[in-house]
Formats: sequence, C-alpha cells, structure tokens
Amino acid sequence: MSAPLVGREREALRAAVARAVRAPSEHNAQPWRWVLGADHLDLHVDDSRRLPFTDDRGHGVLLGCGCALHHLRVALADLGWRADIRHQPDDPGGRPLARVCIRPAADGIDARTRRHAAAIDRRRTDRRRFSARSVSTDVVSALDDAARPFGGVLHLAFGSDRAHVADAMREAAERQREQVGYAAELQRWTHRYAGAHDGIPAGSRLEGPPPSYHDLVLRWFPSGTLHQPRDGADHRDGSALAILTAVDEHPVSVLRAGEALSAVLLEATAQGLGTTPITQVLEVPETRDHLRQVVGAHRPPVVALRLGWPEPFCEPLPATPRRPLDRVLTEVE
Ligand SMILES: Cc1cc2nc3c(=O)[nH]c(=O)nc-3n(C[C@H](O)[C@H](O)[C@H](O)COP(=O)(O)O)c2cc1C
Repeated sequence: MSAPLVGREREALRAAVARAVRAPSEHNAQPWRWVLGADHLDLHVDDSRRLPFTDDRGHGVLLGCGCALHHLRVALADLGWRADIRHQPDDPGGRPLARVCIRPAADGIDARTRRHAAAIDRRRTDRRRFSARSVSTDVVSALDDAARPFGGVLHLAFGSDRAHVADAMREAAERQREQVGYAAELQRWTHRYAGAHDGIPAGSRLEGPPPSYHDLVLRWFPSGTLHQPRDGADHRDGSALAILTAVDEHPVSVLRAGEALSAVLLEATAQGLGTTPITQVLEVPETRDHLRQVVGAHRPPVVALRLGWPEPFCEPLPATPRRPLDRVLTEVE
C-alpha cells in the first residue's frame, strides 16, 4: 500500500483526468472509466463502450485507453507531478488496466512533455485532404522518437510498401462494409441521442462521398458537414503513411502502444501536422496479415497513421464532444 493521497494530490489527479478525456478513441466511444481510491487512481475499461462488430479483438479499446493514460501522464507532468504507472492485462473480472500513483517531479518537466501538454487541446483527427507539401523523414523520425519510450516503433510506408498498405486499406473498407453488425455500430456512433457527449458528430465528418486521396481510401462515415479545404484544389494530397508497431500482441503491449500513439499524435500536433489514425485495415484478418508482411513479422502493426501538412487558411476543425468529468471519474475513499 502507498501512503494515502493528500488533498493537493487528489486535486492534481482530478485535474489530470479532466484533461485526459481529450484523448482520441475509436468512434469517439471513450472506452475509459477512472476510479480515484484512497492511495491511487485506477483506469478501467468501460465495457458498455466496446465496439464488438468493429473491434472484435478489443485492440481499439486498449489503444484508446492507452491514449487516455498518456494524456494523463502528460497532464500530471504539466502540473509538476510524476506518474508511476503499473500496467495490467484487460480482464473482464474487473481488475484495472493501469494503477497510477504520483509523487512530485523532482526534475520538473522536459521540453517535449511541455510541448505535448500544450498540444492536448489543439489535437484533432483531420480527415480532409492535406496540402501537397511532403512530410520529411526528419519529422517522421521525431515522431518515432516520441513513440519509443512506450515500446512503439513507427514504420514509414513508401514506394511499394505504401502501395501494399493502400491496397489493403481499400480491401478492408470493402470487406468491413459487408460485415454483419458493422453498419449498425457505425450508425450508432455517428447518430447519437440528444445530450450524448460522445460519437463522431457531423461537423467532423466530410460531406459527400467517401474520401479517397491519391492512392488512399479512408474509413467511410455517413456524410457530414465538413468541407474540404478550398485552396489548392488541384493539388495532390501529400500525406505520408506510417504504421505504428508494438512489442507484441500482449494486452499490456497494446495498451502501451496506445500511449505511444498519443505521444506521436501530440508531437505531430505540436509540429503543426494534421493526423488521421486508422485502424480499419487492422480490424480485418486478411488485410491485417498484409500489413504484417509490410512491417516484418517480428513486431505487430497496431495502427496506421496518415500525416500531412494542412492547407494554409483551411477552417479550424471543431473539437469532438467528451463526457463530463463526473461521468468518467468515481471517487471512493
Ligand atoms: C484506436 C483508434 C482508432 C481509430 N480509427 C479510426 C479510423 O479507422 N478512421 C478514422 O477516420 N478515425 C479513426 N480514429 C479517430 C477517432 O474517430 C477520433 O479520435 C474520435 O472521433 C475523436 O475525435 P478527435 O480525435 O478529433 O478528438 C481512431 C482513433 C483511435 C484512438
């Protein structure tokens, strides 16, 4: 047992959970539940927020929870605290995914974590066409550096690798559309009831037919109200495609890969890049195998990332909704 949390520690943990809710999650289902106990904070999966027809292996849930855990870590650092985190496998018996204890950060906050903290509120999933400007390998290697402390490695897919991934993305989009239950689940998370604070709202979904950029076909969502940028309409989308890989497929490794994903997305946002995380191609067994061949058999791919420079002067994206703190955090003494 650690020492009971004192008032300012409880305050810091509450404030950090309030910032961690901004983490991305598949279909914005927000599959997390936090419990603040006498001497620690626990992160659980909220089982009512799983996507059984889209994410049958539960990897999307673990990645979303990992993103929330990394956001929490960064928010605590920004408040002057260091998080000691014990990761545990996803367990239907109710054991938490992670247990967080805190202590004052003796060395203060490093420059990268400060940049990531500032990026939390600015990060968005951007599904629009990006500008023709290419993403340099230096930028991709800064994103890879951000992923490595959490066991993540980024594989930049270009040339024939990119063509294979693009083919697999197209095939996954077609196969998943035919899958029993998939369309109903997508409908449920894109057409929420009044007062819901989750799901993907129309303002974050593109108007018109499913977007296809150069060789890339993205996950299709019901048509929304988001416009493509007006400028540069003749330009080719210059986005890079990268695959984040994990140490292995153990649930703790996938949870940590979620932390790596958050670190990559926040670093990309800090650098001014737009990002689209894409798991569709990893949710269909056949196309997942194609990606395994692209990245090499020893590290499983967990998420694909589209990275690009937004067109100058394009409309800022609206923030997607989040459930309020009292719906995601329970306090027990
Ligand atoms: C694990 C994971 C998988 C995702 N998969 C996709 C995807 O396949 N296609 C897509 O357009 N967005 C995908 N997203 C983005 C989510 O839809 C997005 O994070 C969510 O709607 C919240 O919006 P925000 O990222 O703008 O805050 C994914 C996000 C996560 C964390």
